[in-house]
Amino acid sequence: MKKANITVLGSSNTDMIVQIQRIPGPGETLLGGKFSQAAGGKGANQAVAAARAGASTRFIARLGADMLGDQALAGFVKDGIDVSQITRDPKVASGVALINVSTAGENAITVASGANAALTPAIMKKSAAAIKKAQCLVMQLETPLPTVAAAAQIAKKAGVKVILNPAPAQKLPPALLKNVDILTPNEHEARLLCGVAVTDEASSKKAAEALMKKGVGTVIITLGKEGAYVADKQTGLRRHLPTYPAKRVDSTAAGDVFNGALAVALAEGKDLVDAICFANAAASLSIMKLGAQPSIPCRKQIDAFLAKQKPLAPTKTAAKKTKPRKR
Ligand code: RIB
Repeated sequence: MKKANITVLGSSNTDMIVQIQRIPGPGETLLGGKFSQAAGGKGANQAVAAARAGASTRFIARLGADMLGDQALAGFVKDGIDVSQITRDPKVASGVALINVSTAGENAITVASGANAALTPAIMKKSAAAIKKAQCLVMQLETPLPTVAAAAQIAKKAGVKVILNPAPAQKLPPALLKNVDILTPNEHEARLLCGVAVTDEASSKKAAEALMKKGVGTVIITLGKEGAYVADKQTGLRRHLPTYPAKRVDSTAAGDVFNGALAVALAEGKDLVDAICFANAAASLSIMKLGAQPSIPCRKQIDAFLAKQKPLAPTKTAAKKTKPRKR
């Protein structure tokens, strides 16, 4: 099989993690935590997920000219990621995230964006060739919105599939959504983007339809342990897909892993349902370990995990028939 060819544009952070019995409330101090440091950042996690899932991956990002930036860069090189489109900013620090992880595996994250916020459209445009030569461009929202919008436009014009993970949640301009092929919000992000509260399959469908009306081709709403709901304009597919049981240690980066793995599976030619199962498997594996990048599985692990799962029932919703092409 030919290697998938993916470009990721986005953030890189160093995660400062405290494992603590529960997430503290405002004004509260909790003692007894355990500290660790790990590579993170939604963009970097997606790039690492794509690379470990087997894609030839390049990452467009901005780091500070500091020690944390050096460490992040060394990690990308170790994962075989093409780092030629990563620039360094001498004026700002590399991104940092402070993360509390509770005993139940939930998290609360605050981010000091630093150099991620300095990835301007002008800097990104120097990477236009790296966007155009990919099969798929994967992005999230930890870098400036005008940069994400400009990159989506470059990709769309070049026929490169655009996957946008709209996290952290924020409203998006209609012009950006029109350039997005696959949008992957969680319930909260979906609600912010279309006003529909996602609580079950019916409301997932309603939210997905509303988002497709805004110009998105495919909507995949990620539902945590409930799996994902997918709606695809072209084929008429509407389906809830369960995820796989996994013991949650830390859910940090599960969404990022889902997106990186999804891009690889689609670029390899898997259909949407199989690609989502592959992405669900990668995300399930990631929640069983602490930390963002330390928890990201490699291809062998994903394939072995999937091989042990019960096969899914075939899709019930008949896909819309496409007219036969005239010869
Ligand atoms: O999605 C998880 C990521 O969000 C963490 O790695 C942290 O850096 C924040 O960007």
